[in-house]
Order: sequence, then structure tokens, then C-alpha cells
Amino acid sequence: MMQQRLIIDTDPGVDDMIAILSALHCQDIDLLALTTVGGNVSIEGTTRNALRILARVNRTGVPVYAGLSAAHTAQHVHGGDGLSGCSWPDSPVPARPESAIGFLTRELTNSGITLACLGPLTNLAAVLKAKPELACQIERVVIMGGGFGTYSFRAGEGVIESRGNVTPEAEFNIYSDISAARVVFESGVPVTVVPLDISQRTLVSQVRLERLDPVVAGILDRYFAFSRERWGTDAGPLHDPNVIAYIARPDLYTAVRGTVTILPNGGTDFEAGAGVHQVLLQVDAEGYLDWVWDRLSESGLQPFNSSAKRAE
Ligand code: RIB
Ligand code: CA
Repeated sequence: MMQQRLIIDTDPGVDDMIAILSALHCQDIDLLALTTVGGNVSIEGTTRNALRILARVNRTGVPVYAGLSAAHTAQHVHGGDGLSGCSWPDSPVPARPESAIGFLTRELTNSGITLACLGPLTNLAAVLKAKPELACQIERVVIMGGGFGTYSFRAGEGVIESRGNVTPEAEFNIYSDISAARVVFESGVPVTVVPLDISQRTLVSQVRLERLDPVVAGILDRYFAFSRERWGTDAGPLHDPNVIAYIARPDLYTAVRGTVTILPNGGTDFEAGAGVHQVLLQVDAEGYLDWVWDRLSESGLQPFNSSAKRAE
């Protein structure tokens, strides 16, 4: 496979962190830059976290451009610092002086670039509002967001439907900036959606956590505490790395073409058929989690390769 040239727009965020580490350690991906958006925590926090994730794995050569803030945060899920109390030091390298909007406007006209959006769509919407003509030049956008209720599971709270996680109808990334999501989905940009219908199938068990670097396992364990307490399950959803896994390993997923509509309450609706959107509705969950664990293994953050461990 040719290397995919990728820009990640992100609000790290614990699951964003795993997504970034996966992209950095995937030979099929050439990570060009990170652009940050306020979401899980403030724009200052998400930018600080993007920089220190890169520094932790000695990849400070990947530039970070700071963007805009969305309306909501999720500190109750990701902790006050956005990485569940991660002890990694701040990066010695600052964000670039150019804004994320300026960088994205400049770069997205280049061919062969995929944009992965792992947070609210505030930055991309700002680019499209400033330059609507860019919509027909952007090759591909893959987002984590939305939910279509095609999957449900029983938990302590009763039956959890894959439609919303902020409200029963709305998922965080869409809910945090509904008008931005509407701009993106009405722009004509080809968007592939990785919804809760996928990520709520990819729950990380305690057994899998134990096979990780203790620091990373601790960060994830604290991040999953929110889901465990809310659902009464012993596992938590690993949302954002699904976007990176789909870009590198589309064979792990089933996509349906059609048109996604953003509802006034932040919900998402989907009509299958001709359209410029795709929605992922099925995933090989174990294959996905093994793929992520293997990426973490290559990052040096995990003592052994997951498949080797399973063979024992
Ligand atoms: O609903 C899950 C999404 O919201 C993920 O991107 C997570 O990081 C939060 O931003
Ligand atoms: Ca995110």
C-alpha cells in the first residue's frame, strides 16, 4: 500500500493520544501535521497535549498548529489535563506560529492528503466558511463522530444505544459544535464517518489493559472509569484510533455510502444510497484492537507484541 499522507485534527484527549501514537507508528501512514481544536479540554490544553505526546515518542519534528475552540469540554471523562493525569513532561518544542486554519487552508488544496478529524469540526468548518471552493479540492475527510443507533448493548443502566454519549441522541464531537458539523456535511466534502456504532463495539477489557506499558495502561484505565461507572461494564470504548485504523486497514470495516444529515439536537441521520458520505457500520473489533496494540508495541510503549503474547 502507498503511504497515506495524513493530517490529524484533534482534541487530545486520551483516545486521541492512542490514535496519534498509532498513526506515528504505522508504516502505511505519513503523518504530516497535527492541528488542534478545543474539545475534550481547552485549546490550550489540547495543544499542550498534542505537543507532549509527540515529545514522548521523540517525534517533535511533526508540526502542531493550534486552532479554535468548540463550545463544550469533557474534562469529567479525560481529566482536568485532558490525558487522565498523564505525567509526561511538556514538549520543549512549541506549536508553530501559523494558525490551524491558515495551515489547513494552505495544505488541503494539495492532492493526496487525507484529513482525520478526531474532535469537534470547528476548524474544518472555519476553513470551508472562509473558502467554500475548497470543498471540491479536499480529497477525503474521515471523522470520529455521530451515532446511528444500529448497535446496542445491555449494561448497568439498561440498554445503551449507539446514537449519543452526551445526550441519548447526540455524540460529543458533533454536539460540541452542531453548526460546524452542519457546514462540513452540507459542503459536498467526501466525509467518511466512524460513529459510536463502531467505537462502542471496540471496548477495551482489563485483560488487554494489563498487556500495555504501565503508564499508558494507567491513563486508559482512568479514562475508562467514566464508562465503567456509567455503564457498569469492565471495559471502555476506544473511539478515535478507529479513524486511523480505517485509513490504514479499511479491510477491518464495512462502509455504507449515502448522505448524513446533522439534526438540530446534534443527532445524526443517515440515508443509504448515492451520496458523498460513507458511514462505517461494522468492524472486526478484535482485529482493530490487535492493530492498535501492535502500533503501541512499535512505539516502544509496550513490552511485547500483542499477537506474540496471545500465542503463549
Ligand atoms: O464521542 C467520542 C469523541 O469525543 C472522541 O473523539 C473523544 O476523544 C471525544 O472527543
Ligand atoms: Ca477526540
